[in-house]
Amino acid sequence: MRILGIESSCDDTAAAIVEDGQRLLGAERLSSVLLQRRFGGVVPEVAAREHAMAVLPVVQLALERASLRARDVDAIAVTQGPGLLGALLVGVTFAKALALAWEIPVIGVHHLEAHLYANALVEPLRFPALALIVSGGHTTLSYWSEHGKLLVLGATRDDAAGEALDKGARLLGLPYPGGPEIEKLARGVAGPPMFPLPIAKLGTSSLDFSFSGLKTAFEELTRRHPDKRAEAAQSLQEAVVEALCRNLERAFERYPVSQVYLAGGVTANQRLARRVIDWGASAGVAVCIPPPVYCTDNAAMVASAGYYRHQLGDSMGPQEGPKTPWALQDVWVGGI
Ligand code: KG4
Ligand code: ZN
Repeated sequence: MRILGIESSCDDTAAAIVEDGQRLLGAERLSSVLLQRRFGGVVPEVAAREHAMAVLPVVQLALERASLRARDVDAIAVTQGPGLLGALLVGVTFAKALALAWEIPVIGVHHLEAHLYANALVEPLRFPALALIVSGGHTTLSYWSEHGKLLVLGATRDDAAGEALDKGARLLGLPYPGGPEIEKLARGVAGPPMFPLPIAKLGTSSLDFSFSGLKTAFEELTRRHPDKRAEAAQSLQEAVVEALCRNLERAFERYPVSQVYLAGGVTANQRLARRVIDWGASAGVAVCIPPPVYCTDNAAMVASAGYYRHQLGDSMGPQEGPKTPWALQDVWVGGI
């Protein structure tokens, strides 16, 4: 089954065709990030307008790259939420209209669920697993027992990890998105961090995250040591990586699965990848991290998630629109 995936929840307009949830046939993506940099972050109205201009050519180019025509597509999957409302509206409305014209089903996909399915493009998924999703807007740790069954174990109580990196980068005068810029700057610094930054302790039984204290401490650090930008960047990256790994390891003690999946933009970070892979090797657990291009927002993951959602009997009704906010636990049927 060939599914056309469409992603427009933030600043990337993306389309991809994936066969049977696993094989990528063709993809195209256009980002408004360079335009957004002028404003130091994503401006919702700018994002929506750019999606409206880009969505049709991006879909046409994805089909061309896959050497396919409209009649070769069996269903459309689109990010239904959460995300920027105006941006989602463009993708959802376009997908519904296209599905009507092509007389095929349309499936609405949860953006975080879609991030997890980037792993299905790498290898056949194995359950049960622990799933760590770390993006610009979310930080979520879950127990994933099978398609359609996911139990959220912990989430951020304030800022997301990506948000902490983006804000930290801004304090260092680096452009948006800040995560990759922090990683680049930190690469020149070896050894343990020069400035140990606080990692939130939320009680021994909690698997939640908190990054607001780290953000405040980092602000103070940049004020005190304006000449130590690379060392500060490395200290921030280490603190974020440590906070993520600590909870993952703690979750593993309680749920000793044999598979861990990472997903979301921040998991493109090579320091995080190294740390989780090394831990996985010592703990005897398989770790899967999508290649960086599938960690950040893309449409192949949406098409893959749409395939598995379709297998579960999901489709989007004619009266449905974008859903935001939309909690991950409301999508998945909890239970182990
Ligand atoms: O998943 P994503 O592309 O979009 C959302 O759903 O939010 O994640 C974007 C986030 C941004 O905060 C960005 O700074 C971060 O992912 N990011 C990274 C890296 N690449 C992207 N953070 C750390 N290291 C990276 N290499
Ligand atoms: Zn995302």
